[in-house]
Order: sequence, then structure tokens, then C-alpha cells
Amino acid sequence: KNEISIGLLGLGTVGTGVAKILQQHQQDLHHKLGVQVTIKKVLVRNNNKERLSILDPSVFTTDIDEILNDSSLDIIVEVMGGMDGAKRAIEEALKAGKQVVTANKDVMAEHGHDLLKLADAQKCDLFYEASVAGGIPIIRTLEDGLASDRISSLMGIVNGTTNFILTKMKKENMSYETALAEATRLGYAEADPSADVDGLDAARKMVILSSLAFSTEVHIEDVLVRGMREIQEGDLEMANDFGYTMKMVGSSKKDEEGIEVAVEPIFLANSHPLASVNNEFNAVYIYGDAVGETMLYGPGAGSLPTATSVVSDIIAACRNLLLEVNGKRIHAAQHERVMKPESS
Ligand code: NAP
Ligand code: HSE
Repeated sequence: KNEISIGLLGLGTVGTGVAKILQQHQQDLHHKLGVQVTIKKVLVRNNNKERLSILDPSVFTTDIDEILNDSSLDIIVEVMGGMDGAKRAIEEALKAGKQVVTANKDVMAEHGHDLLKLADAQKCDLFYEASVAGGIPIIRTLEDGLASDRISSLMGIVNGTTNFILTKMKKENMSYETALAEATRLGYAEADPSADVDGLDAARKMVILSSLAFSTEVHIEDVLVRGMREIQEGDLEMANDFGYTMKMVGSSKKDEEGIEVAVEPIFLANSHPLASVNNEFNAVYIYGDAVGETMLYGPGAGSLPTATSVVSDIIAACRNLLLEVNGKRIHAAQHERVMKPESS
């Protein structure tokens, strides 16, 4: 095989970044993999929009089945977002024996366990690094880097939009509405930004991280979620006067009684490392029996940072294809539920 062909579902904030990185890093990818990686088809909703000039106009389609039924494609990259259509696309692609990469935390939080089982059954891989914390390799860290440890808790800022809004409200006195509009303009917010501000996006990410960290099935209904809409501009100022910063924090811990997961706005002392994580940046603290305390920090949303994770997954999918070991992974999340009785 001297070429690997990609079908890209979506060319918005993330998809555009993926196309740019694949084009700009073409030589490096060829050097790393020994084959050419080429985008052969791209799904969009509106074929009249002006598109990236680096892509040949002939690659575009508005018909998803044209991509899903194309037997020449090796990897399907789902960056269209949403729930049902994206889930169906991932399922169809796996059933057709394709390698799949997705950035979709909605689908992975709600259906990830079943989709990973389907991938195993189909001898395919399903990679989802970009679904949590944009450009931070947190999924691989939990699956591989810290596989040797027994993780007791996670604590982090995992939503870029809310962190951006809180930063702008605190540091630039910007109103909530203006800051949200700016986060949307910059491509950080979800298509429906209520998922960001009401905490659902962060809750879904905590479901994915907790399932990996504790090798179990955590479900969205197990997460206590409080959004940021009740926060007033004055609250941030008052907190600052007392040496505190308000942040939307996801937390997850496991003890003898079970697992507890929450997302909520909390006051952090200004000396706390998470208090100085600003704008769209994310950070996740991991506490392990052996490693002690470790923290990952980086851009949590945005085109190129998120696309970095997607393209790394594409590389992993290519490697497995080339080595013919696709579908031969043992997943970190096993299938047992150990939630605390009161939260299950
Ligand atoms: P986006 O900018 O809204 O782009 C979505 C793309 O998919 C657009 O090109 C759109 O076509 C296409 N599309 C959507 N639904 C479609 C349909 N039913 N049929 C055909 N085409 C369709 O979204 P995004 O920000 O790139 O996010 C994509 C995914 O990545 C989401 O799951 C999101 O949660 C996740 N994610 C985003 C970020 C981020 O920073 N933005 C970070 C991490 C993960 P048109 O161009 O014609 O509208
Ligand atoms: N809307 C998400 C955020 C995108 O702001 O964190 C990255 O997952």
C-alpha cells in the first residue's frame, strides 16, 4: 500500500484544521509512515460555501452515503458533530470495516462503550483523542502513559468556552454575552453553546475520562452537573477581592464506596494551579497511587490544536492498518459499574 485514503465528514472548525495539517505536514507524515495520506472525499452540508483552496472541488459531497459506501476509503474521520447522524456514520463506517477517528464527545460519552465493542467485533479501531481537551493528549495518557498506575481522582478544566468566558469576564470586564459571542466567533463553542455553559459538554468529557481512569462504565446520568449561567459579573469581582477565582471544574474520584463525578463552578484560591489556566486553555490534574500528582495543560478548543489530536489519531489508525493490527487493542474501560449507590 502506498497511499491511505481518508473520507472527512465535516469541514468546519476542526475539519478545516485537519485538512490544513494533513497538507502542511504532508512530507513529515510521509516520512513517519512511508505512505501518502490523502483526503479523497469531504462531507459538507452546504456545497455553496467558499471552501479551503487546498482541497480539490471534486472531493466535496453533501451525500454522506457516497462516503460511507466508498470501498476505496481506509479511514473515516467524523468531525461533523451532533448525535444521531454522527453515531450512525461511525457505526456504518465500522460495519464497513473502516478505521474511524472522531472528535465527538457527545457520541463517545453516550455510546462510546458500545461503539468500541463494535469496533473490536469488526476488527477496526475507533480513536477519539480530540473528544476531550482539544490539543491535550489526555486519552492516550490515561490509556497508555498511566496504565501502570491506580488512579484515585481527576480534577480539571475541560471546557474551553466557559473558561474563556470566565477569563474575559474577570480580566477584561467583558459581559457574559459578549464573551460567549467571541468564543463562538473563535470556533470554541459547540453548535448549541448551551451544552458548554450548562456544563453538559464538560460532563460528557468527564464521563469519557472517568471511564478510562477507573476502567469502568460511567454514564452521563451519573454526573452531578451545574452550569455557569447563575454566575454574575459581581461574583467574580468579589471572589477576586478575597483571593479566589471562579472556574468551571470537573472532578471525579474513586474510593471504596464507588465513583463520584461532578461538574460545577467553584471558587479556587488564586494560588491553585487551575486558577491560572486562562482563556480556552484546559488542564487536568491526575492523582495516582504510584505517580502521585501530575497535570496536563494546553489548548482545550480551537481549529489547529484540536486537529492536532485528530491527525495524531489518523496516524495511529494508519500505523495499525500498515502493521495489520487494526482492532487488536485492549481498551482501558472495562464493562462494570461501580458508581456510588446514591448517584447511580
Ligand atoms: P462546525 O464548525 O460546526 O463544523 C461542522 C462541519 O460538519 C461543517 O462543515 C458542516 O457543514 C458539516 N456538517 C454538520 N452536519 C452535517 C450534516 N448533517 N451533513 C453534512 N455536513 C454536516 O463544528 P466543529 O467545531 O468543527 O466541531 C466538530 C466536532 O468536533 C464536534 O463534535 C465538536 O464537539 C468537536 N470538537 C470541536 C472542537 C472545537 O474547538 N471546535 C474541539 C474538540 C472537539 P457546512 O460547512 O456546510 O455547514
Ligand atoms: N466547545 C468545546 C469547548 C470544544 O469549549 O471546550 C472543545 O471540546
